[in-house]
Amino acid sequence: MLFFVLLLKVTWILAADGGHHWTYEGPHGQDHWPASYPECGGNAQSPIDIQTDGVIFDPDLPTVQPHGYDQLGTEPLDLHNNGHTVQLSLPPTLHLGGLPRKYTAAQLHLHWGQKGTLKGSEHQINSEATAAELHVVHYDSESYGSLSEAAQKPQGLAVLGILIEVGETENPAYDHILSHLHEVRYKDQKTSVPPFNVRELLPQQLEQFFRYNGSLTTPPCYQSVLWTVFNRRAQISMGQLEKLQETLSSTEEDPSEPLVQNYRVPQPLNQRTIFASFIQVGPLYTTGEMLGLGMGISAGCLCLLLTIYFIAQKIRPEKKTKMSSLGRRNCTELIYP
Ligand SMILES: *[C@@H]1O[C@H](CO)[C@@H](O)[C@H](O)[C@H]1NC(C)=O
Repeated sequence: MLFFVLLLKVTWILAADGGHHWTYEGPHGQDHWPASYPECGGNAQSPIDIQTDGVIFDPDLPTVQPHGYDQLGTEPLDLHNNGHTVQLSLPPTLHLGGLPRKYTAAQLHLHWGQKGTLKGSEHQINSEATAAELHVVHYDSESYGSLSEAAQKPQGLAVLGILIEVGETENPAYDHILSHLHEVRYKDQKTSVPPFNVRELLPQQLEQFFRYNGSLTTPPCYQSVLWTVFNRRAQISMGQLEKLQETLSSTEEDPSEPLVQNYRVPQPLNQRTIFASFIQVGPLYTTGEMLGLGMGISAGCLCLLLTIYFIAQKIRPEKKTKMSSLGRRNCTELIYP
């Protein structure tokens, strides 16, 4: 009986501490998060599917300015496999401008899919996911002393969401992380990474972004995040994506379980507004729609060319007759001046 009470107490402490085991799939998967972490069932959760025809253009949204991202100093950075993602600690010299308060950087981490898929981002734009997503996590250092203190406060955190797609070339900035993954293959392993230019992990253009109030995308899902999701994507090579998909394990050495598909599905928007820093020029087309559009334009051009050709065919003989009759008249005029 005493043992049972103790067990209950331990379970209760774990729950209060947010120490409950969670995964993305299975009996502890995302559908079950709210049972252990009530806020995961809240009405302002992240990620979301950003439907661009429903966003509100806000001309007063200042561009986000990453400060200190390009000068990390000389201190090495901690890279850590926590069983849910690979996380890089960031020094407090990095902070964000262009937000209501000063937000200081704490860490960045990634979300990705399964080997052989190009779907692994958490946020979607017009129901389209990309291969992976980078989150750079900051906290309101004007109001709070630490990340953990700010994590439960409204707008205590500001996270940059960068959609990552596969491009033609390797992205050397991402290799500063990816080339060290084998050193943190198993859960709870840590390594040191030389400092590098973190700005280069972001898309080149930061002017176009979406802004909304949301949450952490992992338990305990605190609804404390002021989100900035950039419209432009970062690109990595196929080889780099595969390294991310194939290197890490979500468990300690045995039995080894691959760390893949660590993304949460889009959550209901409910009554929230998504603001955009830019005006969408028409809808964003998907690859399929682009192909359809391309074929439509080609067919249209062909029709126009054919029409011109047939009109030309019809005009030419008439012209010929006119010319020859004119010629004949001239001849007649010559003969009979
Ligand atoms: C987020 O919520 C706060 C408090 O309700 C509100 O003042 C602010 O305008 C919201 N921001 C966005 C981007 O929706």
